[in-house]
Amino acid sequence: MTEPTIDIRVWRGTDQGHFESHRIPARENQTVLDAVTEVQRSHAPDLAYRFACRVGVCGSCAMTVNGRPRWTCRTHVKRVADAGVITVEPLRNLPRIRDLVCDMSDFFEKWGRVGTFEGTESRDARPARIDASSRERRAADAAVQCINCAVCYAACDVVSWDPSYLGPAALNRAWTLANDARAANAKTVRREALGAGGCGSCHSHGACMAACPVGLSPTRSIAGLKRQSLLDLLGGG
Ligand code: FES
Repeated sequence: MTEPTIDIRVWRGTDQGHFESHRIPARENQTVLDAVTEVQRSHAPDLAYRFACRVGVCGSCAMTVNGRPRWTCRTHVKRVADAGVITVEPLRNLPRIRDLVCDMSDFFEKWGRVGTFEGTESRDARPARIDASSRERRAADAAVQCINCAVCYAACDVVSWDPSYLGPAALNRAWTLANDARAANAKTVRREALGAGGCGSCHSHGACMAACPVGLSPTRSIAGLKRQSLLDLLGGG
């Protein structure tokens, strides 16, 4: 009996390149990352791709699979194969380094640009008591589980049109800082988020929200930032 197989087409090259087709065994519970690994081990040892944890935590394995950005270690081939074919490319909206690997520098630079946590306490102070049921804490908690995979960034059409846009992940990060009762710089974060390339550029298409593998809603975070920033302006903040 012949073993079932799948066709996997992987991008080779940088901006200039081509798809390379490989036929590999179809396995039970095979993920797209498993399939890419099989190609590298059995067919193309010089294929460049990125992963670390394989269990949906580190965010490093994101690629474009049959036209959609996805975390490949938690995406089952059976769920996304189109007539037995999967096509794997690097993420959109980021420079390509080689094969399936993108340069994440812009993404992380924007993440850092929205601000870092600056606390109100001295290093000797006891940990602050945070009311877990407060509106602010619940808002921050709803957005805090980002794994920095850049799937939302690749899904965002505004980033495609305007590379200066901070993008959904950085603005979602800003929202968690702006709602952290321990943060001394929440207003500065909101001001940065409202500046050039900030939350005012979001068209609320919701593509980031639809693509986020861990179910976050950067769209909601960005709407919250717009609202808070407007209140800051009205309040003379
Ligand atoms: Fe870590 Fe996929 S390899 S999230």
